[in-house]
Order: sequence, then C-alpha cells, then structure tokens
Amino acid sequence: MKTPRHIAIIMDGNGRWAKKRGLPRIMGHKKGVDSVKNIVTSCIKFKVEYLTLYAFSTENWLRPKREIKGLFRLLENFLDNEIKLFHDNGVRLRIIGDRDRLDARIRKKIEETEAETAGYGTLNLNIALSYGSRQEILNAARMLSKEVKNGRLQPEQIDERLFSKYLYTNESPDPDLLIRTSGEMRVSNFLLWQISYSEIYVTSKFWPDFREPDLEKAIEEYSKRERRFGK
Ligand code: IPE
Ligand code: IPE
Ligand code: MG
Repeated sequence: MKTPRHIAIIMDGNGRWAKKRGLPRIMGHKKGVDSVKNIVTSCIKFKVEYLTLYAFSTENWLRPKREIKGLFRLLENFLDNEIKLFHDNGVRLRIIGDRDRLDARIRKKIEETEAETAGYGTLNLNIALSYGSRQEILNAARMLSKEVKNGRLQPEQIDERLFSKYLYTNESPDPDLLIRTSGEMRVSNFLLWQISYSEIYVTSKFWPDFREPDLEKAIEEYSKRERRFGK
C-alpha cells in the first residue's frame, strides 16, 4: 500500500455528533480530541511524515464565546497531556495560523511546545489554529511586496517555490491526501494553495467517530488513485 507522505484533515462534525446524542457541543469537541490522539498515533504507526489538522478557522471566531473558550481549553489540555507522546515518538509540533489573535497564555504554551519538539521530525504535526487560507495568501503577498519595495527582491523572482516559502506551511510539502469528515463537500478556507493536486477523500463519519480503521480505509482508497498532475 502506498502511504501518503502528508495527510491533511478537516476535522468536522463534532457538534452534530453531540447533538445526535442530546449532549452539549463541547462534549463533541472533547470526544474529538480522543480522535486526534488516535489519528496522531496511527500516523506514527503508518509512518506518515506530515499530518496537518484543521482545528480552528478564522471564521470560527464568529462562534459563541463559550464554545471558543472550551475549544482552547481542550487544546491546552491536549498539549499538556501529549507532550510525552511527542517526546517518545519524535513528534514535532507546529501551529499554523494567525497567532496574534490567540491569548497570551495559549501562545506561550504553543511556543514552549514548539521549542521543546523542534529537534524532532518522525511525524510533523501541524495544527491549524485561527487559520484561514485566504488570509495566509494575503499575508504572503504583503510580505513579498515589502521585499520588492525595499529593493531586496525583483518581481520576476517571485515563483511558486518562493511564494510557498512565505506561507505558514513553508516547511511542509503539499498534502497528498485531504480528508474531510461528516460528509461536507467543501474546503472551508483550508490550504487553498497547497491542495492544488491533493487527492480528496470525504467520509460521512463525524470526527469523534473517526479512528484508525477509518484512516486506513482512506489511505487504501488513496493508494488506488492514479495521480496524473495534469500530465
Ligand atoms: C468541527 O466540528 C470542529 C470545529 C470546527 C472547531 P464542528 O463544531 O464544526 O461540528 P458541526 O459541523 O457543527 O457538526
Ligand atoms: C471547518 O469546519 C473548520 C474546521 C474543521 C476547524 P466548519 O464547520 O467551520 O466549516 P463549515 O462552516 O461547515 O464550512
Ligand atoms: Mg462544522
């Protein structure tokens, strides 16, 4: 079986998972963290090199304050609880997104975890937080314009490779496989530049129900696909 080098996942359906059971949405998010742990462990086992998880979008800031607070508390706990897993398995954590919007305590925790795991790379775990792909692209365009304005760069020098360097994902190859759970057929402002030629796999399972066998199924399906890259 051909294993994708980089898997990106839009983890969707936590709210619906909870609603179906008459539980508050936050319980769906809590259960969703168990899926994150399971999938991180599975990726280590399957020797996936990069895993990028969409945890919180720029648009998700429009959700009720209480839900947002709950989500960030879960993230904080996740980082506290899994640091041992990261050390034991050589997992390097990177957070991609607009850090300026995160509160200082979370930012500090993120920076600490990133620094502590910076020497690893068996699995590169990217968590997209306060992430929006259009904002990411605009940000890159702004930084490049400044370089041109300051005379450090000629417009002709801007090619795909250079442009990619200015994205949050600059240290990761493009995703081979993009998975979305809970049946929605849309990309919701996730990695628009990077998924140009990714294979897309949508499952109707809600994220809290998505576990290793489901990932295996997605990889199996991926390995049957013929990637032509326009050729
Ligand atoms: C995904 O689940 C988690 C986040 C977007 C934070 P949702 O919260 O979007 O769950 P649904 O889509 O409402 O079921
Ligand atoms: C996408 O899910 C964002 C994350 C999974 C973090 P949403 O639930 O926010 O997306 P829409 O609203 O269905 O497009
Ligand atoms: Mg959703």
